[in-house]
Amino acid sequence: MQENNFENTNSQSAIGYVVGGGLKENLHVRLTVPPFSIQEGSFIVIKSGYWQFYGIATDLQLGATDQRFADDQMGKRLPESIAALLQGQTLYTNLIVLPSLMLENGPEPNSPGYVLEYPIWRKPIEDGEKEEPRPMPVKTVPVHHSEAFLAKKGDIAEIFGKESDDGFFVIGHTREQKHPVCVNLDKLIQRSSGIFGATGSGKSFLTRIILAGLIDHDKASVLVYDMHNEYGLDDTASDTGQNVVGLRSAFGRAKVQIVGLGSSADIRGVAPDFNLTLSYQDIIPEDIELLSRELNLKETTSGTLDALVQQFGPTGWFKSFRDMKHGKTVEEDGKKKPAPDSVAFWANQSGIHPMAAEGLHTKLKRLFNKPYIVETPPSDSIQAIIESLRKGQHIVLSFGKFESDLDYLLISNLITRRIRDEWEKMTNQFRNGKASEPRQLVITVEEAHKLLNREMAAQTTFSTIAREMRKYYVTLLVIDQRPSQIYDEVMSQLGTRVCGWLGDDDDVHAVLSGLAGRDALRGMLARLQPKEEVLLLGWGVPMPILVRSRRYDADFYKDLKRSQKGSFDKKAAIDTLYPD
Ligand SMILES: Nc1ncnc2c1ncn2[C@@H]1O[C@H](COP(=O)(O)OP(=O)(O)OP(=O)(O)O)[C@@H](O)[C@H]1O
Ligand SMILES: [Mg+2]
Repeated sequence: MQENNFENTNSQSAIGYVVGGGLKENLHVRLTVPPFSIQEGSFIVIKSGYWQFYGIATDLQLGATDQRFADDQMGKRLPESIAALLQGQTLYTNLIVLPSLMLENGPEPNSPGYVLEYPIWRKPIEDGEKEEPRPMPVKTVPVHHSEAFLAKKGDIAEIFGKESDDGFFVIGHTREQKHPVCVNLDKLIQRSSGIFGATGSGKSFLTRIILAGLIDHDKASVLVYDMHNEYGLDDTASDTGQNVVGLRSAFGRAKVQIVGLGSSADIRGVAPDFNLTLSYQDIIPEDIELLSRELNLKETTSGTLDALVQQFGPTGWFKSFRDMKHGKTVEEDGKKKPAPDSVAFWANQSGIHPMAAEGLHTKLKRLFNKPYIVETPPSDSIQAIIESLRKGQHIVLSFGKFESDLDYLLISNLITRRIRDEWEKMTNQFRNGKASEPRQLVITVEEAHKLLNREMAAQTTFSTIAREMRKYYVTLLVIDQRPSQIYDEVMSQLGTRVCGWLGDDDDVHAVLSGLAGRDALRGMLARLQPKEEVLLLGWGVPMPILVRSRRYDADFYKDLKRSQKGSFDKKAAIDTLYPD
């Protein structure tokens, strides 16, 4: 038995040894270092024979060989040296490790038989009889007394990749040892992903970091529905008052363009690169039906819309309905009758209840009066957005002063619908050998539950995109404070989930839905730092890991420049960051 709890086992950096547990109940590691030198969330490596097991610490438990030793303050009764010895023999701490991956990596390089054993172990691999070992989901357990270690930089790189590997991007660092943790950007964009956390937990900052990574590595075109005008231009952090570099400022106009909603859009006094104005013809009945909750539409709406489309066509109905007069009457034979250009007149003619048509007309006034919907816009701005994205540019769509949910739902759905159609067309042409491969596109949506709640999810293009995965080269990056409000079918499709602190049990539950080891992870999520600390989860990462988010500041762009492989516009960034 151990002489002293805190004495190291034979290897230099072992923190303990396996004493029990299993795949279902996690592994129990008897600590040989003081408990406060290990924290929940630490990345742990357990070496057992030719295998390494990787997991994260999810709990620390104080134990005693007999409860009496724990209850009794021996130091007060016995001489100090004897008390310490007794405590060392009887009191201990168990670290609970959630095992995730295992990797066969052969004999230990410093072990006595290494020189002989290594070639024997390698031979079948070299001969092609056995596959090159790769980390795989854990399917067995290490033997009793296997040693446990805190992961080294190389262990993290083995699992999460290195920054120097193509498509790997540092998203943060491990909490204690500050080893860099990468995400595989290719994998991140292969399926839709999500960034969650309570307000102030750092979602928008982390989103900037990830988007900058995607733009820098040129892995996808990015379209951001920037509801709060945060991503394009420089901003001031509300808490620290510091300047926050916008993506357009960092990458330059040739790469990132800001589109402002409305013909006279300005974003905090700065003109956008181009304006988005919609034509009456752009609005189709589905766009209206999506706004049912927002506009408080009645069940009769779809009947009225059908009749309008039947009479005026899918591109003419909006203008015709808009032009009708509500309540206008004429006198005929001393009686008031609906005027020929009135809503009621049209309704009577079309077999629609006049009250239903007038009700809808009143509710749609909120749209009829939107200055960004006009009869003849100067250009087809949606097409211009699509063209930019196809060319590999990135778009930040700023809503400017149009910050209501109505604007957000209408515009984001309408554009996404057009984009999805276009990308589907391009994909089909590509599959038929008639066009080149479509450019991967990532659509970023803040306050995603507004678009992907249970009620909306059945109808929006967003949920279709989340569900169909990569089929059409478009995926989502959803950002939300309240993941529990996102339809669970959509949540379950999110490959990578990056989650900051969440206070609400339902939100924690939603983020972990469908993931292995969620009971162990639940507690960790609840105990994250309120800011800048996240748990990386899901199919897009090899295993769950706790990460301190990378800092988003001037150094961030300097580092990006240093490790640069992609399309980062050096000159534009330097000009913006260091104007003199
Ligand atoms: N990676 C980071 N680098 C630098 N500062 C950060 C980082 N993450 C968070 N912060 C700090 O935390 C503050 C809040 O972060 P952020 O605005 O991203 O929160 P949020 O989760 O988007 O909140 P909300 O839900 O209210 O939009 C920032 O103003 C900034 O000062
Ligand atoms: Mg935010």
